[in-house]
Amino acid sequence: MIVLLLGPPGVGKGTQSDNITHEFNINKISTGDILRDAVKNETEVGLEAKQYMVSGELVPDSIILKIIDVRMKDPDCSNGFILDGFPRTIPQAEGLDSILEKAELKIDKVLCLKADEENIINRMTSRRVCKTCGKVYNTISLPPAKDGICDNDDTKLIQRTDDKEETIRNRFDVYRKQTEPLINYYKNKNLLFEVDSNGSIDEIKNNIFNLLRG
Ligand code: AP5
Repeated sequence: MIVLLLGPPGVGKGTQSDNITHEFNINKISTGDILRDAVKNETEVGLEAKQYMVSGELVPDSIILKIIDVRMKDPDCSNGFILDGFPRTIPQAEGLDSILEKAELKIDKVLCLKADEENIINRMTSRRVCKTCGKVYNTISLPPAKDGICDNDDTKLIQRTDDKEETIRNRFDVYRKQTEPLINYYKNKNLLFEVDSNGSIDEIKNNIFNLLRG
């Protein structure tokens, strides 16, 4: 199964792709996570990507398509995968089409998560992450057992650098201009399913599972 998760920053793509991974036994490919790792490890890609990520701009398509092409060929993706946060531009979507065509693979479903902007901003400003294991928490909806400390490894939780209010605003602008056109791109291919993502994590999870089983 190949599933794409589209949606604005902070809507819950990462949270729900983790749920899908566990339920359907397929891997998650998150370009955001891959880039954050590259930045942390100061690789060549990381050093280039960092300048775009801190301001909420998109990393160039050529870099992203190379990352995807390599990652999709890993053996742990042979059972299928969820693409979280990719594609984000029409050229990325076209690039993905040609990578999949060469591999004789097809997208099964594209899920577009939608929620009110106010809800999303609240989720992003209360998001906390573990910089050791990457686990994502929320001070309101998904708190750790010990305040400010990761359940997995006792690391102090931090706020993502791009979760500052002015960067969040720019990420929304970038989403509207560069990523929203993908909704029609996939509607025209009859692959798009909209998911109301205003509810609780569990409600949304159950709706997504039903959609993917249908
Ligand atoms: P990326 O990491 O992909 O960021 P994003 O798309 O902006 O999405 P987020 O990770 O912010 O949010 P999410 O939707 O995953 O929400 P989450 O589940 O964490 O990309 C970061 C940057 O990398 C980009 O700005 C760009 O520079 C670069 N980049 C990445 N991919 C790229 C690409 N393809 N092309 C070019 N550049 C690229 O949830 C948010 C919070 O809400 C969490 O705290 C969670 O616990 C909580 N939450 C989730 N669901 C609910 C709910 N239903 N109710 C209450 N709380 C909830």
